[in-house]
Amino acid sequence: QRKAMTAASVRSRKGGEPLVCLTAYDAPTAKVLDAHCDVLLVGDSLGMVVHGMPSTVGVTLDMMILHGKAVMRGAENALVVVDLPFGSYEASREQAFESARRVVSETGCGAVKIESGTYAAGTVAFLAERGIPVMAHVGLRPQASLVTGGFKAKGRTGAEREAVIAEARAADEAGAFAMVIEGVDEELARQITQEVRCPTIGIGASAACDGQILVTPDMLGMFDWTPKFVRRYGKLREQIGEAVEAYAKDVRERSFPGEAETYRLKKD
Ligand code: KIV
Ligand code: NA
Repeated sequence: QRKAMTAASVRSRKGGEPLVCLTAYDAPTAKVLDAHCDVLLVGDSLGMVVHGMPSTVGVTLDMMILHGKAVMRGAENALVVVDLPFGSYEASREQAFESARRVVSETGCGAVKIESGTYAAGTVAFLAERGIPVMAHVGLRPQASLVTGGFKAKGRTGAEREAVIAEARAADEAGAFAMVIEGVDEELARQITQEVRCPTIGIGASAACDGQILVTPDMLGMFDWTPKFVRRYGKLREQIGEAVEAYAKDVRERSFPGEAETYRLKKD
């Protein structure tokens, strides 16, 4: 049995054995993933992959707390990190602290994650100094998609590369215990990983990072379309379709339920 992970133990893995991370949104899935993962992230991607929303922008703090509680009930060893959703932390450090305090105290999770433009460095420090470990998220930041015009990899221009490096530096200096780097090329991921003191966790950011994360339903093959950086390790969509097709057939031809699935109660 491995020892339970903490923000500090994740931080100490810098440059060591790669950090294995996945997203989780419910208790039974969390329990399966927990045996193999260092970090389970309750990502605001749940807006899209669980609730069918068009982006993460409409996800609320209450949604994150509800799913955070569920994941905590399934996780034993992995560090559970919960995303602060759009609108719950950007206005001020105090707003961020109050949102993070609710998340940590109501779910019992070990850390929060914020999408951290350079402006957010003060917030990272404010929370970390007051006892809330913060995972940063730099590069492609989905909550900024209304401004940036969608989900595009970052680093096509020198200015864009400098901007991502500045975000990473700012978060690292502010005391983030780890950072997600999303949607950058290998050269940029390597440069950031070499420069920052905290471990980097890549998604669409090459093998040069200190760890990897994927959106679990993406890697399990729940969707027809996935981004280029996803490797599918399962065929969940196909398997669910086949199972339900078989069930529908059995119900229609009255072969389900059968003898084994039917109560035969002894009457007095
Ligand atoms: O919301 C999410 O799932 C994330 C990961 C993809 C890093 O932020
Ligand atoms: Na997220």
